[in-house]
Amino acid sequence: MKQTRIIVNRYGGPDVLRVVQDECPEPDHGEVRVKVLAAGVGMPDVMAREGVHPETPRVPYTPGWDLVGVVDRLGDGVGSVEPGQKVVAMPIHGAYAECVCLPESELVPLPSDLDPAEAVSMVLNYVTAYQMLHRTAHVTSGQRALIHGASGGVGTALLQLGRLAGLEMYGTCSSSQGASAVSGLGATPIDYKQQDVIAEIRRLTAEGVDVVFDPIAGTHLWQSRQALRRGGKVVGYGTTTTLRNVGLDSGRTGRRHRLHGIPIFGLYIMCGWLLPGRKRIIPYSIQTLKRLKPEWFRQDLTSLLNLLQQRKVKPLVARRFPLTEARQAHELLEKGGVVGKIVLMPGSTSLESGAT
Ligand SMILES: NC(=O)c1ccc[n+]([C@@H]2O[C@H](COP(=O)([O-])OP(=O)(O)OC[C@H]3O[C@@H](n4cnc5c(N)ncnc54)[C@H](OP(=O)(O)O)[C@@H]3O)[C@@H](O)[C@H]2O)c1
Repeated sequence: MKQTRIIVNRYGGPDVLRVVQDECPEPDHGEVRVKVLAAGVGMPDVMAREGVHPETPRVPYTPGWDLVGVVDRLGDGVGSVEPGQKVVAMPIHGAYAECVCLPESELVPLPSDLDPAEAVSMVLNYVTAYQMLHRTAHVTSGQRALIHGASGGVGTALLQLGRLAGLEMYGTCSSSQGASAVSGLGATPIDYKQQDVIAEIRRLTAEGVDVVFDPIAGTHLWQSRQALRRGGKVVGYGTTTTLRNVGLDSGRTGRRHRLHGIPIFGLYIMCGWLLPGRKRIIPYSIQTLKRLKPEWFRQDLTSLLNLLQQRKVKPLVARRFPLTEARQAHELLEKGGVVGKIVLMPGSTSLESGAT
């Protein structure tokens, strides 16, 4: 059976995303073939495409961190799932395809009545947000949080889960559409392009916040530390600065550079420990925690899917694209101002998958 998938043959801009047709893979022993219904598009995909994410595979590879699909074929020895069952998974790469083979242990069952685009948003974005809140920062009701990139995929997940946890929240964003999404999700928006974020936090909270969630990295981590009250924490979880502030468009290396931005991150973590004020900078990585504690990933994803089914969370799906328009999806994400998650829908056409 033929399938369409996306491949990256060399690291670079959105134009390196190629649509190819080849045979659907056959599942090996212990593997399951899944027909992909929805694949998430996020900054980690963009960074891997550029060669600067710690999880960047060697070229050629098929991108795509997370997916929702239907079990299509079982390899020998598989016993926990059945053909036709809906599942979610986070393979880290490979999801931009119509068919993907994954180890049985990677699959988490999905209630069949959930929208695949909403469900896929729960994987990378909501598990990241949930684990940062509850497993890294250990937030408690009534605490104050500053959320950078608050209108983005992870940011909107942090806002929804932060509200459920009873946090008082402040969220940075740069557009009026972003600001209305941030205030609609219960936080005070701060325009990071027009305002001095730290001065604004001081004005609004006097002593500072208990926790800052920072996906920007670089010197931004140190600024985030200035928003903390004594004993507060910055959870650093991304290197968005790599793409936006430095601008890979002007300085692409075309090489795999998986440690990009990591040494300076390490320096700030160390300084956080050494300087007075007990203001810590703590790193979070979903893939590292999943490798160390796979049972937490399953448990947290299952709890989040339950919250989705009960409509206690409502992921914002910014736009649905057909699989063949992966390039346009990346271009849109990189342009900025996207509110929520972009999703690729294999098997749908342009007309069917238009903006939601
Ligand atoms: N560590 C982990 O396990 C993990 C997991 C998932 C994601 N991540 C990382 O998290 C980051 C965000 O991912 P995402 O998928 O949520 O991306 P996204 O949907 O594109 O959101 C990124 C957000 O960052 C904002 N932004 C850009 N520059 C900013 C700045 N200087 N100050 C404040 N906000 C700024 C953007 O706002 P505007 O559009 O308004 O400019 C946008 O809302 C990426 O670096 C990704 O690699 C890490």
